[in-house]
Amino acid sequence: MKQLIVFFLTLLSLAGFAQPATDLPEDFLTKEFHLDRRAKLREKLPANSVAVFFANPVRNRANDVDYVYHQDPDFYYLTGYKEPNAVLFIFKDKQTAANGTAYDEIIFVQPRNEMAEQWTGRRLGDQGVKTRLGLNQAFNNTEFKKFNIDFKKFDQVLFFDFENDVRNEKYDSADLYDIIEQFKAKVNYPSKESVSVNREPQKNNLNTKDLAKLMAGLRGVKTPEEMQMIRMAVNISCMGQVEVMKAMKPGMSEREIQGIHEYVFKKYQAEDLGYPSIVGAGHNGCILHYIDNYKPNISSKELILMDLGAEYRGYTADITRTIPVNGKFSPEQKQIYELVLKAQEEAMKVCKPGMTMQQLTEVTRVVINKGLKDLGIIKTEDEKHRYYPHGCCHHIGLDVHDRGERVLQENMVITIEPGIYIPENANCDKKWWGIAVRIEDDYLLTKDGNEHLSSRAPRTVEDIENMMKLPSPLDDFVLPDLKKSK
Ligand code: GLY
Ligand code: MN
Ligand code: MN
Repeated sequence: MKQLIVFFLTLLSLAGFAQPATDLPEDFLTKEFHLDRRAKLREKLPANSVAVFFANPVRNRANDVDYVYHQDPDFYYLTGYKEPNAVLFIFKDKQTAANGTAYDEIIFVQPRNEMAEQWTGRRLGDQGVKTRLGLNQAFNNTEFKKFNIDFKKFDQVLFFDFENDVRNEKYDSADLYDIIEQFKAKVNYPSKESVSVNREPQKNNLNTKDLAKLMAGLRGVKTPEEMQMIRMAVNISCMGQVEVMKAMKPGMSEREIQGIHEYVFKKYQAEDLGYPSIVGAGHNGCILHYIDNYKPNISSKELILMDLGAEYRGYTADITRTIPVNGKFSPEQKQIYELVLKAQEEAMKVCKPGMTMQQLTEVTRVVINKGLKDLGIIKTEDEKHRYYPHGCCHHIGLDVHDRGERVLQENMVITIEPGIYIPENANCDKKWWGIAVRIEDDYLLTKDGNEHLSSRAPRTVEDIENMMKLPSPLDDFVLPDLKKSK
């Protein structure tokens, strides 16, 4: 008997690695959410079709170090699965397996592996995916090769074409690279040679165009569960702006300011950034996606443009504030700032269901072009694009530039982000040089207007200057000078 108990205890301890405690926060989206999203996609699929989604590849940083893994947002949206090396099939109609089981979705995931998990983290495996994510037809990816469904019988096999480089991991014969190769063989994916010989891919049932539209229709309109995450991401990002406004001092580095924002994000348990942080002082602000953030000493006379978004449970904010390093806008800085603000306010007034993002951009352009002319910064119409070279709106969600449709609808979430960027040596009075202003906020489309989600981050000249007068807990945070001897 005692031996039997020892035997069972040994079995249990072996199985122990199968059910580890996760210490995971509990506010991720539920399996019911993902199930509902798959059902909604199935409704939209064309007759007699299957949609196929691949997990994101692991990306190598250098040598034996990879970038932190980030799941493909479509894959996450439909499953909640956050690991690599997986493929998901959603069928329009029920299929019947060899053993008689009926199913309309199936997922292949990376298997449990005690040694791999000790090095790179916990895995759900097929059983975990069934119990935690509620995908009942879950198999280890090592089974995918044997998955012998006849893809020729479908009128359409929808998937995103293979544009990413995917590494073939030597010691894993069922990693994403292998899954893709096996999939290509199963669906008769045209080889590069046949494409170049025939000039266009051979005609078959493969459709790599329409899934983007179907997913945009779904992902562009946010559910109440998603809105909880987005509101958190936005509020956290606003708090980063607030703390930086209080802590800002001439002589700080762009990187230090980036660090304060990102510390606030982490303090609120945001797991990631929605995109690389943009912190540009003076003319660095003219580089729209300036992510080097290398300037060591920001000068008292400069503006600093800060475009950052916390990612919370997969959902990102996208907020930009531009503030004077010394706490007070100069007259020229103020004139440009107020012009950008006016453009944003005009777009906010008309932002409602039925409008397009292009129309909102146009509203901001009219204000900015007139203002730049009145200030004498542009003389001719041809010059206008130079100082405001981007559109003003995009969807946000699981991606910072999220999938979504052009015409706005209730429960979409978008940015409105006009800007004016006047580089060194611009063709205008040099008192304007080096002034770069972007103001970017996040909005939920309501039934007949919008809700300004990011209003916690001060935005008017007066509110910013008042916030910058407040003390910061970081005023007392002084580190030893490492260049001085001990
Ligand atoms: N942060 C990127 C953008 O504003 O679109
Ligand atoms: Mn944006
Ligand atoms: Mn932005």
